[in-house]
Amino acid sequence: MSLKRIHLCLAHMSPTGAEQHYIQEAFNTNWIAPLGPNVDAFEEDLENFFNSTPKIAAISSCTAAIHIALLLLGVGKGDEVLCQSFSFCASSNPVTYCGATPIFVDSEEDTWNMSPELLEEAIKDRIAQTGRKPKAIIVVDLYGMPAKWDEITAISQKYDIPVIEDAANALGSYYKGKPCGTFGDIATLSFNGNKMITTSGGGAIICKDEATKKRAIFLATQAKEPFLHYEHETIGFNYRMSNISAGIGRGQMTVLEDHINHHKHVHKLYRELFLNTNLTNNTNIFVQDNPNADFDSNFWLTTILFKQELDTETFCLELDKSGIEARPLWKPMHLQPVYKDSPAFTNGFSEYLFKHGICLPSGPWVMDEDVKYIVEKIKSTIID
Ligand SMILES: Cc1ncc(COP(=O)(O)O)c(C=O)c1O
Repeated sequence: MSLKRIHLCLAHMSPTGAEQHYIQEAFNTNWIAPLGPNVDAFEEDLENFFNSTPKIAAISSCTAAIHIALLLLGVGKGDEVLCQSFSFCASSNPVTYCGATPIFVDSEEDTWNMSPELLEEAIKDRIAQTGRKPKAIIVVDLYGMPAKWDEITAISQKYDIPVIEDAANALGSYYKGKPCGTFGDIATLSFNGNKMITTSGGGAIICKDEATKKRAIFLATQAKEPFLHYEHETIGFNYRMSNISAGIGRGQMTVLEDHINHHKHVHKLYRELFLNTNLTNNTNIFVQDNPNADFDSNFWLTTILFKQELDTETFCLELDKSGIEARPLWKPMHLQPVYKDSPAFTNGFSEYLFKHGICLPSGPWVMDEDVKYIVEKIKSTIID
């Protein structure tokens, strides 16, 4: 008998088949292109989710959206951009696409996101070293947890450096009642197959006004000046979302709230099961939670820390034998070979997270009995 596999977060379509309806509509009307009614309607659905104020452009991925955001802020060759080190490579790689240098900033202990103290230290240092301000700051709401937005925004305003909010994981998370994706001067979302909702692959750029959205779309569609012969004054990119993908996105918007509730439910269950046990080892496991009532994470992935240092790679491979997909927490970018020459402002915390933590299956396919099974397996694996 083959073992059921429990994944971190798999795509999950609406029970009504809404995704297929919109895709079929695209086929029926022959809108098989990287523009069309589904793209427009998906953007409108997203704008409504964010209460209409921000203007949103659908893009082929979050990585591409971060690239466009950097271009919108004028980041270019020789510039420096402050980046959260504790994240997936896609948060900082686009900086290098622009010919700029990422300067990595470590995390703080409450949210695991960018440390405001280190951010300010980094800004002061770079100004002293280079005589120039960093051009932008990329802050991530990692695993769905909002960053310390009050402090980050105050620093961004004090030094007049714009913020890109990488909210790839944080659709449906809130800080002080305001949705993640609305804190940066520009923000980005991901609709990859493993995110809160999916378009198979896709992303979005969240702008403060219509003019910025128009410019984002211009850059994402090869920067074509308005002539029939396609005049080009700027280098553009082919980054727009396809009308088929956007059809999936429209269907997924009908289940977004269900997905958010499910991720939160799974997180609550993990917390209860790790806490309510008499095993002596239970004190060794910490389940990350909202630091206080200001934070309302969607808990895209539930993350845990072991008090003792262990080989998280081997531990996850062990869980894999029991059909459980788990993954070590991100290896900080300042420790990645590819970024060995980038300056970094560190306090050791993201390295600690990498050495002590893993993320657990949390998506819409993860049932209560799966969570119970996973918790039992983790406990017995530690004891063995
Ligand atoms: C924090 C973060 N930023 C950016 C991305 C990139 O998203 P995409 O795959 O849509 O390019 C991811 C993907 O996992 C991510 O986790």
